Amino acid sequence: MNRRLLLRSALYSATAATSLVACDQFKKTGLVDTAIAQAPTVQPPAAAAPPLQGQPSLKRRAAAKGLLYGAAAQPQILTAEPDFANSFAQECAILVSENQLKWEALRPTPTQFNFAGGDALLAFAQQHQMLFRGHTLVWHNALPDWFRETLTRANARHFLQEHIATVVGHYAGKVHSWDVVNEAIAPEENRPHGVRHTPWLELLGADYIQLAFQMAHQADPQALLVYNDYGLDYDTVQDASKRTAVLRLLERLKSANVPIHALGIQAHLWGSETRFSPEKLGQFLQQVADLDLQIFITELDVADVELPANVAERDRLVADHYRRYLDIVLAQPAVTAVLTWGLSDRHTWLTSFQPRPDGLPVRPLPLDQQLRRKPAWEAIAAAFDATSVRQLLSI
Ligand code: G3I
Repeated sequence: MNRRLLLRSALYSATAATSLVACDQFKKTGLVDTAIAQAPTVQPPAAAAPPLQGQPSLKRRAAAKGLLYGAAAQPQILTAEPDFANSFAQECAILVSENQLKWEALRPTPTQFNFAGGDALLAFAQQHQMLFRGHTLVWHNALPDWFRETLTRANARHFLQEHIATVVGHYAGKVHSWDVVNEAIAPEENRPHGVRHTPWLELLGADYIQLAFQMAHQADPQALLVYNDYGLDYDTVQDASKRTAVLRLLERLKSANVPIHALGIQAHLWGSETRFSPEKLGQFLQQVADLDLQIFITELDVADVELPANVAERDRLVADHYRRYLDIVLAQPAVTAVLTWGLSDRHTWLTSFQPRPDGLPVRPLPLDQQLRRKPAWEAIAAAFDATSVRQLLSI
């Protein structure tokens, strides 16, 4: 197992902005360039691009194409850091809870629910006219300590039903979408249908997946219900087998009339990876779209752990990776939302989960630690500018 696979296996044990914004100012630069190029005598200086800080936000660039852009957030950070909160409100049209809606955060004891963190995030989103995503109802990680000693085969269905009815019910009518089941597929474990060995599989069998979607739909019939997973992005044997297993899962759910509305592709990317296949990834996205599902890019970031130390070079490589990936996925019109897993390098899970061996701070997100727009921001903005307009009814 190579270093990256080791890292991956160690690490892993979704209508505020619907108004279309004309982006004519971006086209003007090209017109000016053309006119100048035709002038016979004087050699003009290259037209300076508008400074990044003064350009329209990612949410406006996305909205111009009927797309949503947003990011994951934590309430204590939005409260403690007004500059960060301002940048978040400026750039994002949708907010997803990074940790506060996981069992570990919501369920201090078997009989209690603590909605403080989730409610604070929802309030921030509402205050800034953002949509709100829930993450996640069913996952094998971030379970409370009491989970293992309390749940049995006899009571697991009751706990799942109570959890989903209470949590989805609490936010009913206020969420854009829920990651109902997270990371349930692991073909490398060689189980039937490629299902991952999880406490839920042990307790309820593989039907837990469809049960969770049915319970969530009952609790909030308006919410878009999402199956969310990682490892679907590259032209590798491992990612190809995961794409196949996830596609089969989605086919089974759709053919059983399970209420599922979107695939969430986490897209935790690797800046050093070169194995892109627009054809293979594009074909997978089309197959998902053919199932009448939307596709959300839910947790996008680009790890720089294996990239050179030089900041300018590293930022360029990270930005190139964002652009290359987004050009592929945004070519599929069913992709209607893009969220990054955090907004600024100041706060990213990669700082602790994938620190650089040289000890330098990681730089995987659109804004730097000082909240300045990076080449990654520019790459995302350019990818949004380059894509076609989505149907507004999809968001
Ligand atoms: O809750 C404790 C807190 O009380 C304590 O003070 C703090 C000190 O270390 O730890 C806190 O728990 C941490 C939690 O984040 C909240 O900050 C956990 O140790 C830490 O493991 C947890 O990591 C999160 C991880 O999921 C596991 O839940 C990351 O922030 C979060 O970015 C990451 O997100 C996952 C998605 O949910 C699913 N897809 C992959 C993605 C990245 O791993």
